[in-house]
Amino acid sequence: MTNSDALAALAREIAAASLPLGEATLVFGEGDLGAAVMFVGEAPGFHEDQQGRPFVGRAGKLLDELIRGIGWKREQVYITNIVKRRPPENRDPLPDEIEAYQPYLTRQIGIIAPKLIVTLGRFSMNYFLPDAKITRDHGRVLTIDGTLVYPVYHPAAALRSTAMLETLRADFGRIPRVLSGELAPEAPVAAAASAVPVFKNPRSGKENSKQKRLF
Ligand code: URA
Repeated sequence: MTNSDALAALAREIAAASLPLGEATLVFGEGDLGAAVMFVGEAPGFHEDQQGRPFVGRAGKLLDELIRGIGWKREQVYITNIVKRRPPENRDPLPDEIEAYQPYLTRQIGIIAPKLIVTLGRFSMNYFLPDAKITRDHGRVLTIDGTLVYPVYHPAAALRSTAMLETLRADFGRIPRVLSGELAPEAPVAAAASAVPVFKNPRSGKENSKQKRLF
């Protein structure tokens, strides 16, 4: 099965499943289906819900600009969210909602098998790294089960704070060197403390490998 077939089947499965936020539009994700880099945000907002595409509102425009700023095109990466439908009034996603969509994101990551996951904002970061703190840990180069994970601020937060925007730009500027390995990841910390399977990554050779506590 091609990545395209596998992702289309996964999207159909989500559409047919009984999941929280089921009234809202499914915003599955888009981009290069074999991308080396996957950006993972929080949840769709108003514009994403309208268009069925991730990061197409103001935060999305900033994300596009940041991607262009490192010499890449949006179509070369894959963009998705931990929660695939818009929470009402753009409220934060609830733990139950994150958990309900989690098996689908796990499989989506497994199909695309990116080399690097850039987490956008604290919800996405804490999905992978439950004990991390965004102000402390943004810009750290980490590995989980052989996949690089690089937390940065959420573009929407950066739109509200000049200092955060500067930091986000600086962290973004390092992404190519994170991907190339020039900025070496920190040694993975071994103990698997969470029971939540994050990746089903073919490259790791493991099914449902466990999330690692790095902090
Ligand atoms: N914010 C997100 O986290 N995701 C989107 O798709 C849009 C805005």
